[in-house]
Amino acid sequence: MLSVENISSGYGKMMVVQDVSIRVAQGEIVVIIGPNGCGKSTLMKTIFGLIRPASGRIFFREEDITGIAPFWLAAKGIGFVPQTDNVFQSLTVMENLEMGGYLSRHIDTAWVFDIFPVLKERRREKAGSLSGGERQMLAIARALMTSPDLLLLDEPSAGLAPRMVETLMGKIKEIRQSTSVLMIEQNAKSALGIADRGYIMVMGKKVYEGTSKEILGHKDIGRLYLGKK
Ligand SMILES: Nc1ncnc2c1ncn2[C@@H]1O[C@H](COP(=O)(O)OP(=O)(O)OP(=O)(O)O)[C@@H](O)[C@H]1O
Ligand SMILES: [Mg+2]
Repeated sequence: MLSVENISSGYGKMMVVQDVSIRVAQGEIVVIIGPNGCGKSTLMKTIFGLIRPASGRIFFREEDITGIAPFWLAAKGIGFVPQTDNVFQSLTVMENLEMGGYLSRHIDTAWVFDIFPVLKERRREKAGSLSGGERQMLAIARALMTSPDLLLLDEPSAGLAPRMVETLMGKIKEIRQSTSVLMIEQNAKSALGIADRGYIMVMGKKVYEGTSKEILGHKDIGRLYLGKK
C-alpha cells in the first residue's frame, strides 16, 4: 500500500528525518513511536506532500507519489489527520464532515455515524464545543469522508484521558476494515495493542522495527519507550 524509501526531509538545511524507510501493507495498522521532536510529524507531513523530501522516494500502490501535492494525494486515496488544528472549530459537526467530503459528489455520512454515533447526536453543534475525544473522532471521521485506502493519523489520542484513549483505539481498529492506517502515537502501549507492526524513531532515524508483539516484549525498548521497569 505505502512504501517510504530512504526519506530524508526537514526544514531548510536542517534534516530532521534521516534516511527513513517504512512500509504499510493493505489492511495493516502500523504505528510510529518516538520521543518528542524526533521527526515523526515531519515524516508524516512529507508522506502527505506538505514537505518535499531532500532525498528518497514514496510509493503508494506502486505509484511514485514523491512531491505530489496533498490535494492529489487525497484524490488518490490518502487521508491525513494532522496533530493540531484538525477540525474547523466554528463549523458544526455536519459542516466539518461535508468539508471532508468535498471530493465526492454524493456526501454520505451514514457510515461514519455508524462508527461514531456520538457525532450523529452532536451533528448540529459547533466542533469547538466538543470534548477532546469527540473532536479527535470528528477529525478522523472528516478524513474518512473521502473513503481513503490509507489513513495517516498524527497522534490521535494526544491529551485524552486513559479511558478515552482505549475507546479511540477501538474505533481505529474498527475502521481498518475499510482502510489501512499509519499512525503516530505517544500512548505507545495502547497503540501497539491494536497495531500489527511498529517503528521506533529517535533523533530523525529509524532505530527499530518489528511486530507489535516484538516491540512490547523487547526489554530495552519497553524500558526506554513504554515506561516499563
Ligand atoms: N515548521 C518547522 N520549521 C522548522 N523546524 C521545525 C518545524 N516543524 C518542526 N520543526 C523541528 O523539527 C524537529 C522535528 O519536529 P516534529 O514535529 O517532526 O517532531 P515530532 O516527532 O512529531 O514531535 P512531537 O512528538 O512533539 O509531535 C523538531 O526539532 C522541531 O523543532
Ligand atoms: Mg509530532
